[in-house]
Amino acid sequence: MLKLGMKILGIETSCDETAAAVVENGTEILANVVASSAEMQAKYGGVIPEQAARQQVRTVIPVIQEALSGLDPKQIDALTVTVGPGLIGSLLVGVETAKTLGYLWKKPIIPVNHLVAHIYANWLGEKAPQFPALALVVSGGHTDLVLMKDHGEIGWIGGTRDDAAGEAFDKSARLLGLPYPGGPSIAKAAAEYLATNHQPLKLFPRPMIDEENFDFSFSGLKTAVLREVSHQSSTVNRSRLAAEVQEAIVDVLVKKTLDAVKKFKPKSLLLAGGVSANSRLREKFMLEIGSRKLKVEFRVPNPKLCTDNAAYIAAYAFFNNKPSSLDKISANAELTITD
Ligand code: KG4
Ligand code: ZN
Repeated sequence: MLKLGMKILGIETSCDETAAAVVENGTEILANVVASSAEMQAKYGGVIPEQAARQQVRTVIPVIQEALSGLDPKQIDALTVTVGPGLIGSLLVGVETAKTLGYLWKKPIIPVNHLVAHIYANWLGEKAPQFPALALVVSGGHTDLVLMKDHGEIGWIGGTRDDAAGEAFDKSARLLGLPYPGGPSIAKAAAEYLATNHQPLKLFPRPMIDEENFDFSFSGLKTAVLREVSHQSSTVNRSRLAAEVQEAIVDVLVKKTLDAVKKFKPKSLLLAGGVSANSRLREKFMLEIGSRKLKVEFRVPNPKLCTDNAAYIAAYAFFNNKPSSLDKISANAELTITD
């Protein structure tokens, strides 16, 4: 049941970010705290699950305390927590913390699917997106296209058959010798290249781009990058390759998503997940929606809200307010977007 003035404390620990947020009415962020162990991951070139989980244990309480600062737990109406998908050790920290606090404070707990919740970053703001909505969720581990008829009514229409879009950025960056996380590193190197070069970017393949389905395949990209890297090494070439990688991923995401817009005619198109922070992706969507004259409201969250945080977890929980009993809330690393 929706209650106005409802304040929800969200907790998110599915990977290497420890996040807590307080959101009112699913739209207004009162606090949004994210602690990342990204520096440590950068040192090792990726996430080491045991280290990420240990870091979650160290930071979860301070992060929640910071998100609550100035608020008495009595003023919180409910807690919500990501139960999956993600790294099991990391997920368990958030789930057990939320259950303990919920029990102590006698508050309902709403379990949340991280992938669906990403889409709710589009509700954080003044104007709610309209249904039916088509959502492209592009994160580090997942790439899915879903149709939302309403809150809680989600149908899957396509997704990646192998690597996720974020994974393609991360793996290509590693091959190019760019630091982790790969998406922002590739975006930065590509921007440097594009500032002075305007040749068409067509070096890498766009798998499945013209197939009549809404599936993606990004695993071939890393082989193509590897082949190029083995005979190119100057820094200039590295930025060009970064621009080529970005353009190949962006082209496929934009083309297939807009084909889905044409077919399903949603009122709004929502981008979500870490990769949706990519400015070339956002720009190309706008350009192509214009040139294809598609009548759809294009929404993409503020870049800070695209990557993992707990504000969208709390937004999701407000609009899908289904608390569970403590014995029914458990971490599930393998959840899919339609679970
Ligand atoms: O949603 P997210 O923060 O975490 C997961 O749920 O996985 O997504 C992380 C992914 C990583 O692969 C990261 O490289 C990518 O999002 N990413 C980007 C950008 N910022 C983050 N990819 C491309 N361009 C960006 N600006
Ligand atoms: Zn995520």
